[in-house]
Amino acid sequence: MQIIFDEKQQIFHLYNEKISYVIQVEKQRYLKHCYYGKRLKKWRGGIQSFYYDRGFCANPVVEDRTFSLDTQQREFPESGQGDFRSPAYELMDAQGDRNARFFYQGFQILKGKTAPEGLPHVYTEQVAEAMTLEITLQDEVRNQRILLYYTIYEDAVVTRFAKWINDGKEPVEISRFLSMSMDLPTQGYDVLTFAGAHVEEKNMYRRPLCADAVVIESRRGTSSPQATPFLGLLSSQTTEEQGEVLGVNLIYSGDFYGSVQCGQYGTTRVQIGLNPFQFQWKLHPQESFCTPEAVLVYSEQGLGGMTEIFHKLYRERVCRGTYREKERPVLLNSWEGMYFDINEEKILNLAEEAAELGIELLVMDDGWFKGRNTDTTSLGDWVEDKTKFPDGLQNLAKRVKQKGIEFGIWFEPEMISEKSDLYRTHSDWVIRSPLYDPIRSRHQLVLDLSNPAVCEYLIQSVGRILEPGNISYVKWDMNRHLTDLGSVYLGRENQMELSHRYVLGLYHVMETLTERFPQVLFESCSSGGGRFDAGMLYYMPQTWTSDNTDAICRLKIQHGTSFLFPPVTMGAHVSACPNHQVGRTTPLATRFAVAAAGNLGYELDLKNLSKEEKEEVKAQIKEYKKRRRTVQFGTYYRLANPFCENQGAWNIVSEDGMEVIFTHVQILARAAYRMPVIRLRGLDPDAIYTDCATGQEYGGDELMYAGIRIPRIRQDFSSTTIAVSYTHLRAHETELH
Ligand code: GLA
Repeated sequence: MQIIFDEKQQIFHLYNEKISYVIQVEKQRYLKHCYYGKRLKKWRGGIQSFYYDRGFCANPVVEDRTFSLDTQQREFPESGQGDFRSPAYELMDAQGDRNARFFYQGFQILKGKTAPEGLPHVYTEQVAEAMTLEITLQDEVRNQRILLYYTIYEDAVVTRFAKWINDGKEPVEISRFLSMSMDLPTQGYDVLTFAGAHVEEKNMYRRPLCADAVVIESRRGTSSPQATPFLGLLSSQTTEEQGEVLGVNLIYSGDFYGSVQCGQYGTTRVQIGLNPFQFQWKLHPQESFCTPEAVLVYSEQGLGGMTEIFHKLYRERVCRGTYREKERPVLLNSWEGMYFDINEEKILNLAEEAAELGIELLVMDDGWFKGRNTDTTSLGDWVEDKTKFPDGLQNLAKRVKQKGIEFGIWFEPEMISEKSDLYRTHSDWVIRSPLYDPIRSRHQLVLDLSNPAVCEYLIQSVGRILEPGNISYVKWDMNRHLTDLGSVYLGRENQMELSHRYVLGLYHVMETLTERFPQVLFESCSSGGGRFDAGMLYYMPQTWTSDNTDAICRLKIQHGTSFLFPPVTMGAHVSACPNHQVGRTTPLATRFAVAAAGNLGYELDLKNLSKEEKEEVKAQIKEYKKRRRTVQFGTYYRLANPFCENQGAWNIVSEDGMEVIFTHVQILARAAYRMPVIRLRGLDPDAIYTDCATGQEYGGDELMYAGIRIPRIRQDFSSTTIAVSYTHLRAHETELH
């Protein structure tokens, strides 16, 4: 990769073998976006700027009626100087003046990566993995600087964030500060977003954009199940396998804002960053403020190409720690099987049965701590309930381990119940207004993580339980959103910083705990995939994808999630039928087929399984373990779209290409059976593959170009899984017929 500055053209060109990103300094002041896309050998200015005198245009360059910022392709636009589209930043000074003039001042080209302080980001392990361009914008009148950071890697990825530095003598209030903004030269894009709800995360929406805007945002304090900090800009011809895509994802777990907006003269603005909603940051002299990082992926191989880039990047350069490279254990979670009704005897019995089936980790979910028999009490009191566990939590963990299985537990550290010792001593640690009765959600209140004392309490109380080393897994939950924004800790002037400070506090707590307990596998959760975002993955390498465990609903949820996140990050469990969320009964084999496309777990009371079902589960686990490396570290391909088809299908190719797992799920059976043909992806067209179960041989070209025909199964919700292994390269001379 390389970054060059062409003095004559005033051009920055960031490029690698796949992509180019070009920025121009215009009129010695303004940053113009020229290009982001497929690699260009050199920028010679094919897309020139033409200037025309137009109605309602403001002219920032004196005497030049043809130059207006509103018609330009910008990189980091302001407001107040005639660009009437959505700005990237806004401020207010002590006198109430909201105007600023940040102009280009200089640049540095840096080796390696520059990261936003205290925030999750794409990291590098060696300096040679990345190069960074730092561009300085300066307001000389106010004595303020904004530094824009662009990092380019070997893949088709550019990351961006911005840093504001107050060099002045007075504080400024930043009321909007996005991570990136960019004006594309054309319009007519399709916009792809992922929105949803609790138990229905990451529904996929694609629509053409004409002359207006699409806004995505969360105002809930977390990234949320309702929205995803992602915007895809697609050409209208783009499919799963072909066509251009620009995918923009924010590495952040709190309130975000993103928009795609058409300009009046044929351009399209795309932006993402912190949500300006209820946000204002007081920046004192000599202080700085960093935005979260935005990831910009370019693919000319359709949405599948974009996904491959995101998966590799997030698996290898966002996820960290021991578990980044490690196969993840098959777990059994107590929640749907027992809910709050747990005790020592039940957990030990469950552990014994689980171990017999080949399960490697038993997770004791909610209900284990002091007085917690319903969801109305005890959050904050992270001490075991002695009536349920008279022998203590640590002894329980040891006894579970003696049965040959690891032990994990559930926490919801960011929350507090009013019925708790913590609330009795620290009611001032709650996010709320001093004037009103706080709004409850799931009977609970949110702790004020902007307060360092609260963060320290979380580190201590969770740390105390992990310290003895008997617990090897933590499920970190978060089951409500922020209301009544108010903090006793923050003074009058910092109240508008609460939502972002909450996230910064959370990141600090997670950084400290995950660093202190590197052997513990952390899984994040927010009533399922309510905070399934790249920010959380930086600390916790897997996420509970959804509280909806129905295999058929999961087809869509996992399909939507897969656009950004690889299977190894997705918790997926086989649960009991009729399913607890939708009441549907699906075959055990299908529940497994869908859960085995992620990080496999079971979430049911094993004692309710028949002898045959237990045997089936045992065989499933054996099968999964055999193919686990492929599922968790292979390349994942979507082959059908359950949002608009009567089926789901995918195949995963192992890292070395030797193994391919193909799964098809039929949603409803049809009398007039349509005999679907599915074409596999990512195989070697010149190789011969053998079906591991039947010994039947197929050419890689056949499987990819002609496809596999799915045999008829007269049952709703049925599934077919075929594993093939690479056998040998085809000998061309004997194969030409
Ligand atoms: C949330 C989680 C569930 C379970 C419960 C426990 O809803 O998503 O998996 O842990 O909390 O209260």
